[in-house]
Amino acid sequence: LSRSLAQGEAARFPTEHLVLNFPGSRHVTIAIGHGVSSEWQTVVGESFANTVIITQRGIPLPSALSEGVSVIEIAQGEQAKTLVEVERVAVRLVELGVTRKDLLVAVGGGTVTDFTGFVASIYHRGLSYLNVPTTLLAMVDAAIGGKTGVNLPLGKNLLGTFYQPTGIIVDLDLLASLPEQEWLSGRGEMVKYEFLGIAGLGRMSLPEQVLQCVRYKAAVVTVDERDSSERERLNYGHSIGHALEALSLKRGYSDRLSHGVAVAKGLYVESLLAMRLGRIGLEGVKRHRLTLEKWGFDLSAPSWCRAHEVVSAMGRDKKNFGNFRVALDGPNGVEVVGGVPVDEILSTVAQWIAEGKR
Ligand SMILES: NC(=O)c1ccc[n+]([C@@H]2O[C@H](COP(=O)([O-])OP(=O)(O)OC[C@H]3O[C@@H](n4cnc5c(N)ncnc54)[C@H](O)[C@@H]3O)[C@@H](O)[C@H]2O)c1
Ligand SMILES: [Zn+2]
Repeated sequence: LSRSLAQGEAARFPTEHLVLNFPGSRHVTIAIGHGVSSEWQTVVGESFANTVIITQRGIPLPSALSEGVSVIEIAQGEQAKTLVEVERVAVRLVELGVTRKDLLVAVGGGTVTDFTGFVASIYHRGLSYLNVPTTLLAMVDAAIGGKTGVNLPLGKNLLGTFYQPTGIIVDLDLLASLPEQEWLSGRGEMVKYEFLGIAGLGRMSLPEQVLQCVRYKAAVVTVDERDSSERERLNYGHSIGHALEALSLKRGYSDRLSHGVAVAKGLYVESLLAMRLGRIGLEGVKRHRLTLEKWGFDLSAPSWCRAHEVVSAMGRDKKNFGNFRVALDGPNGVEVVGGVPVDEILSTVAQWIAEGKR
């Protein structure tokens, strides 16, 4: 359905341009629309001696971008986000003669944009890069905001930088080949924005949904570039969601929850937590359930889910060292709440698991 919307609405959805302004006269141009890859040079706004695309096998490369350009493929999946891979790519860039005056172009999902942004921020002490997200999740989230990074064996994204791209190309045509599970994952990230304040998001066309989410994230990151307050609200659904995602990944392929599917469950459980803490009533929980179900999410607890395991997986999340800070709904909308007692989280997850057994 989403895919046919992506293609069928082409005629009616005009290209949009946004400019994000950051302190120090830095700005990032975003082009959103069908086929906007062909505008990449206008978005970048200057010419570079050398352009190098960084991507992964199986990702569609727009011909407008790739003609006559060197391409480096990085490892498949999350395996790409390692220091070993950073070194391998950096060596290749040296061999290609790339300098600080050149341009890197990330073509891929959040894995590729995180990786490329990180390399761009440290190679020759920093060169320009362009993000061309090819997953729904990267279009509405990962490619925007300048958070870059790779993983350590101890955890995800433990090494990283804040480093804005020169521009972002959100070409909706690139979604045509996106696998179904990646659609669902992207929709889990999108539905979060409806709770954060984009009313009626679920009723919009796909291009309009992408545009609204991009606008929302762009507005948040320009007021809080370094993730100190406002940007933390974007973690709504992620405290529980990340824990569920991490536990599922340890269990193997058949139990695997994609990021967005885990976030959708997390959004529901965090609404139960907000009710337990007296921040919202039963109506608020029902609103979460109805909205998430309309977006097509199954809100049941996985059969393997144990409350104490979820809570200890939350403890290992790098955002939760020491105390639990959780983005929670409340009378003033979603806010980040500190000092949430572990026992309340434990009881909430247990309540969620029990719901499915009734
Ligand atoms: N920097 C940030 O602010 C931020 C925010 C959210 C997520 N992230 C990071 O993003 C990563 C996840 O990104 P993702 O969800 O985009 O997944 P992904 O980059 O891992 O891509 C998922 C899969 O889809 C394939 N793929 C991508 N585009 C395709 C296309 N158009 N057609 C066919 N196949 C395609 C990829 O090869 C991969 O196998 C994580 O590493 C996460 O930490 C970063
Ligand atoms: Zn997310």
